[in-house]
Amino acid sequence: MIKVKDTYILGIESSCDETSCAIVKNGVEEIATVILSQIDIHANYGGVVPEIASRHHVQNITIVIEQCLKKANMEMAMIDAIAVTYGPGLVGSLLIGIEAAKTLSYVYNKPLIPVHHIAGHIYANNLEKPMCFPLLALVISGGHTDLIYMDKHLSFKKLGSTLDDAVGECYDKIARVLDLPYPGGPSIDQMAKKGENIYALPIPMNDNSYNFSFSGLKSAVINLVNNEKKHGKEINKDNIACSFQETVIATINKKVRNALANYPVNYFIIAGGVAANQGIRNNLQFLCKEKKINYNFPKLKYCTDNATMIAAAGYFLFQDKRFGDLTLNSKSTINLD
Ligand code: KG4
Ligand code: ZN
Repeated sequence: MIKVKDTYILGIESSCDETSCAIVKNGVEEIATVILSQIDIHANYGGVVPEIASRHHVQNITIVIEQCLKKANMEMAMIDAIAVTYGPGLVGSLLIGIEAAKTLSYVYNKPLIPVHHIAGHIYANNLEKPMCFPLLALVISGGHTDLIYMDKHLSFKKLGSTLDDAVGECYDKIARVLDLPYPGGPSIDQMAKKGENIYALPIPMNDNSYNFSFSGLKSAVINLVNNEKKHGKEINKDNIACSFQETVIATINKKVRNALANYPVNYFIIAGGVAANQGIRNNLQFLCKEKKINYNFPKLKYCTDNATMIAAAGYFLFQDKRFGDLTLNSKSTINLD
């Protein structure tokens, strides 16, 4: 029997405040991942400061690449290609990863593979278990809220997206009003478990479209907090977190139902940092069981930014020979479909 050669992709991610390098085998098996997070640094400012992020990526990029190769017990000669996030994200931060990837590609004569950050988030679902098509993907991150239909690998049809704030952005802004640390998603998720859904908040874009809108909900929560303060009432943060999160869940559930009604699929996946949210995961798990469709939710460590997902997506781009060259540049915004 002829043994098919394994393919090892080295991935690099630096689009926001995580500097990460990973090696993935055949697009499905994580060999090693190293992530240096700057969250503690940016928490002092209540959000990511692009200038500071770029400077830390410069300091961290060679460290994560060296540590990753060491952890995998591999040398560059054993790597088949270098995959790197080229957008969307902070241009200065992206550039650091791109320059490192271009250097490795040039020096070791390996193909360079540009990867869209959201394609990476989606392909976090291919780690451990190959994705099945056609599928519906819900992307919920700090910068994106999208419903995407895929009938095969690398074919992304955007059904709908947010018309204003991304859901993660909304979590972070509400956390700030509640004096919770940055990023706000994990704290709100924890507090929601302890609270009660006692505040009637508006369900945004409660229609039959696949689009989302979160700025109205954000304003409603901010107004609620300000009014309670003005009237000298003690704010129960757990109840606010719970009411907000339940409204987000109701919105997402409605939009996913709309999409499933018109795009019958037998596989559903979620992606992005907010996909780590326990309340959202539980609700969507029930929905998939009710609709009798298979689903995959990424492990929590693959939800927030990491290079493992970039290397996983890079494998399929490698198969399709979608290579970049040394003119590759960072893109702050770029369409997936
Ligand atoms: O995907 P990601 O790491 O970065 C972007 O590409 O945007 O997502 C970061 C976002 C932040 O807004 C953070 O608050 C949110 O993911 N997040 C969560 C949770 N963990 C992270 N949101 C809700 N619940 C969580 N458990
Ligand atoms: Zn991300």
